[in-house]
Amino acid sequence: MFNFKHEWIETNIGLMLVLTMLAISIGGLVEIAPLFFIKSTVEKVEGVRPYTALESRGRDIFVREGCYLCHSQMIRPFRDEALRYGHYSLAAESKYDHPFQWGSKRTGPDLARVGKKYSNEWHVAHLLDPKSMVPESVMPRYPWLLATPLDTSDVSERLMALRAVGVPYSANQAEMDNNVKEFGPEVAKQLHIPDAQKNLIAQAQEGNYDGDRSNVTEMDALVAYLQVLGTMVDFSKYDNDHFVQYR
Ligand code: HEC
Repeated sequence: MFNFKHEWIETNIGLMLVLTMLAISIGGLVEIAPLFFIKSTVEKVEGVRPYTALESRGRDIFVREGCYLCHSQMIRPFRDEALRYGHYSLAAESKYDHPFQWGSKRTGPDLARVGKKYSNEWHVAHLLDPKSMVPESVMPRYPWLLATPLDTSDVSERLMALRAVGVPYSANQAEMDNNVKEFGPEVAKQLHIPDAQKNLIAQAQEGNYDGDRSNVTEMDALVAYLQVLGTMVDFSKYDNDHFVQYR
């Protein structure tokens, strides 16, 4: 029997080349193979849609501020998690997220279903000073969100970037027509890139997320985003066994 030492591989460049290729192909296979099954593993559910322009900007701020460093957005399929947060997260629910916000660090609670759990006023007060709502909180304060007007000038470009990676925002009439079929006319209007800035301002004014209709702040966008998290799928429409077939 030969003595299989590292030195032996390192001094045989031919062998090292073969073993390196082998290691890379196994790694590649593990990453690529699941992509062939993505159609059968992403659940078919109604209601999941891309974020509106305002929600999408809120998501950008969520990422910018590093909220994911303390908050995951993935409810695992365990009884304790479902009891605390609600139905476990579906793959379909983050299919338009680039990058996804699943996370693995929970200094704070999971946020996958925080939408509609609190009022807009609660979120504004909490983000300004978390201790004012939850005295034992270790979450930092984010007072600048309410003082900073939301930059809406590049919202179309941002949605174009998401469109480039496959999120169905529409850039022309044919794509808009497709979205009407897929999501209905109301949602399709919100996904139309040429109207993004107009739609964003209209949603902020109507939703009044930061409690001040006179201007659109970063707080408006972030609260609009938080309020939609986990609310798109109506789980009362599906019985418990429905999702099992996709596991
Ligand atoms: C240093 C860790 C940390 C960071 C960073 C952080 N949070 Fe938190 N967050 C917490 C903790 C701890 C709690 C639980 C106590 C509380 O409600 O304040 C919490 C609670 C929350 C809640 C209430 C959740 C619930 O179900 O009650 C929301 C919403 C929230 N955070 C949003 C955010 C957003 C948005 C950001 C980024 C702007 C952020 N957090 C950044 C630690 C953090």
